[in-house]
Amino acid sequence: MKKWKVALIGCGSIADNTYLPRIKDIPEADMVAVCDTIPERARDYSEKFAVPAWYTSIDELLEKCDFEILMNTTSIPAHHEINMKALKAGKHLYSQKPVGLTVEEVTEQIEAAEAAGVKYTASPIHMLRDDIRFAKKLIAGGCIGEIMKVHTNVCHGGPEYFQYRTADPTWFHRPGSGALYDMGVHGLTMTTGILGPAKAVGCMAKISEPVRTVRSGSFDGMQIQANQLYDNYIITLDYGDRTMAVVESGFCQKNSRAPQMEIFGTKGTISFVENGSWMPLDIYLDAPERGIRGWLQPMEWDIPASEQNFFQCMVVQDLIHAIEEDRPVGLPPEHARHVVDIMCTIPEAIETCSIVPLHTTF
Ligand SMILES: NC(=O)c1ccc[n+]([C@@H]2O[C@H](COP(=O)([O-])OP(=O)(O)OC[C@H]3O[C@@H](n4cnc5c(N)ncnc54)[C@H](O)[C@@H]3O)[C@@H](O)[C@H]2O)c1
Repeated sequence: MKKWKVALIGCGSIADNTYLPRIKDIPEADMVAVCDTIPERARDYSEKFAVPAWYTSIDELLEKCDFEILMNTTSIPAHHEINMKALKAGKHLYSQKPVGLTVEEVTEQIEAAEAAGVKYTASPIHMLRDDIRFAKKLIAGGCIGEIMKVHTNVCHGGPEYFQYRTADPTWFHRPGSGALYDMGVHGLTMTTGILGPAKAVGCMAKISEPVRTVRSGSFDGMQIQANQLYDNYIITLDYGDRTMAVVESGFCQKNSRAPQMEIFGTKGTISFVENGSWMPLDIYLDAPERGIRGWLQPMEWDIPASEQNFFQCMVVQDLIHAIEEDRPVGLPPEHARHVVDIMCTIPEAIETCSIVPLHTTF
């Protein structure tokens, strides 16, 4: 089995809590380097996770390191430039979300990947999750009939609130980032992953907490002025005919017992109830022909055991298999571009209090 040389850029929270601890569980991946513009962070992560080399810029990484796949876990405003440099240098790429800030940027990245003949896969990871793949399979089989509505609620109390952080989280509240790009992207990806491309978008948004206080880690107690960007969004998506969706997103929920996603069909409901991991599905069926109406547990998951128990580093494994088998990646950047289209159209929907047409598809 070939071991693919993987480098990671962006030694922050998600690299620390999600990717670097688990990449060793991907047998096809060999972690060869980490990189961060803050040298101490790159050096510390290299030591902590026994990664042989560390660098302080994408240019230095590309110049000095022999690697094949880049994982980009930098802060949001850095994504496009790094992604472009990596793709143009002929590296296969997995980028954190959103992969760019405009439709044009994502198109540029897609074209750069095509020109270089490399594979490019784009976060968020939801459409590879076991539960969402299973729900899609149930829906395709007609389990809950025709889908009329999808409702997602993917929010938390703010990056300075809900996670332990050693890096300054101020950037999350500055233009070029914000609750829509950091959190809205989740519900929008899940919804469009289930229903496909939306036709139009509407939105209400507020600033719920203009001053925020960091609650843990190296910057505990620091106050952040968070009055430049909305942090509470209720987004509506129009699918024409009889179908629509609501996407609630933002940094305004300290916690919640709302399902992360509910899918409402003519014959029932699929509900994703969070229980700390990728969660089991609750299914409500209205089946009068069988005398049944009520909540049920789905059968054992009809996915081979070897493909179950998804964890985020499996995105890299999917990328490697896509390269080896020359097949499409599981998280196509065209889907990410449609979500960026929605996010870029939302300000117009807010300003004009109207439902604004979308122009991309996937
Ligand atoms: N933290 C999470 O649980 C989480 C979850 C899902 C997605 N994400 C996404 O992951 C990305 C990173 O989030 P985070 O919470 O880890 O942020 P973070 O602030 O903890 O880490 C970002 C790191 O990137 C580094 N960086 C910034 N610009 C750089 C550049 N040009 N070159 C090299 N390094 C650079 C910073 O120094 C910092 O160490 C974001 O896109 C975020 O939306 C995070």
